[in-house]
Amino acid sequence: MLLCLFLTTLIFLVNSCEDKQALPSGIPPGCDTASLTYSTGAGVMQQIINANCATANCHVAGGTAPTDFTSYTGLQRDAGGGTNSLFWQNLFVNRSMPPASQPRLDLCTQAKLKQWLLIGIPQ
Ligand code: HEM
Repeated sequence: MLLCLFLTTLIFLVNSCEDKQALPSGIPPGCDTASLTYSTGAGVMQQIINANCATANCHVAGGTAPTDFTSYTGLQRDAGGGTNSLFWQNLFVNRSMPPASQPRLDLCTQAKLKQWLLIGIPQ
């Protein structure tokens, strides 16, 4: 009886843990990754990059970062190339960006950045 109770609890815990840790490579429920563009149309990606990367003293002219991400031209070199891009490497491989001092990107923002990089960073 106790063993049965223990096993049931264990299965329940594992299942609930898996749900909470939606894989970054997965798209969290309710997260819209359709028709992602930089500035045309909804221009979702410009908003995401301005809010998380091209912030004061970071990826802006005169900032601490070597590259200015305030325009499409400025970020194209680092964002182009899908999984080989510096964006992908720094965001999803070595995870050096955003720096540890900055807030973490939520799962939906990560999913949108991943999708946009994979479809060739449409402007
Ligand atoms: C999610 C947003 C961000 C993305 C996608 C991003 C992307 C990158 C990339 C691709 C590089 C390599 C640049 C190169 O060598 O050409 C880089 C370097 C750098 N970034 Fe960011 N970054 C982000 C946020 C930030 C923020 C918020 C800061 C400032 C607090 C910052 C500061 C730096 C610095 C200082 C470097 C150069 C140091 C290094 O090479 O490690 N970045 N970033």
